[in-house]
Amino acid sequence: MGRSAGFILWLTGLSGAGKSTLSRALHAHLARSQPMEVLDGDEVRTWLSRGLGFSREDREENVRRIGQVARLLAKHGVGVIAAAISPYAASRAEVRRLAEAAGIPFVEVFVQAPLDVLIARDVKGLYKKALAGELAHFTGVSDPYEAPAAPDVTVRSDVDSVEAGLLRVLEALRQRGLLDDSVAA
Ligand code: ADX
Repeated sequence: MGRSAGFILWLTGLSGAGKSTLSRALHAHLARSQPMEVLDGDEVRTWLSRGLGFSREDREENVRRIGQVARLLAKHGVGVIAAAISPYAASRAEVRRLAEAAGIPFVEVFVQAPLDVLIARDVKGLYKKALAGELAHFTGVSDPYEAPAAPDVTVRSDVDSVEAGLLRVLEALRQRGLLDDSVAA
């Protein structure tokens, strides 16, 4: 394993859209050729961001913290996959700005699925609660989600298979010169 280039892959999208699933697939693939780390919203909120809620302020703080850890890791050659709803465009722009200012490539991935599909899936049962009015400030139902205007990659989790999404992200990394071509897709 040679000296790798660090980067940040930032996955944004609604709860249940498939960010964690895509993260795991990306991690499994990319970890064959370089050190990789995943910063996943649910886990981050257990440790790094414990105590933060879902107000705009707290979500922005959450994103800021994930961005900071991602930069620290990426600076040392780690490929970082950050997966958080990160609903505010300004927050995402800020983490991108800070990464690029530090010379760290930043790739925004929009993990997209229509709300009705997410409501039908509702793996965690949170959409049901939010629609019943039992969960205030739930993204996509009672709280905003600002979709990326110009993401580097868009993955449609209701249409694309996990494998297809994975390939799309890998292609974007390849185009940016961030993929070790010795590992076949
Ligand atoms: S973010 O907005 O700050 O980026 P993050 O990705 O860390 O969110 O956490 C989202 C996860 O928290 C969801 O997948 C869901 O399991 C849980 N959650 C609990 N309450 C909410 C809420 N009000 N809005 C969105 N997600 C929530």
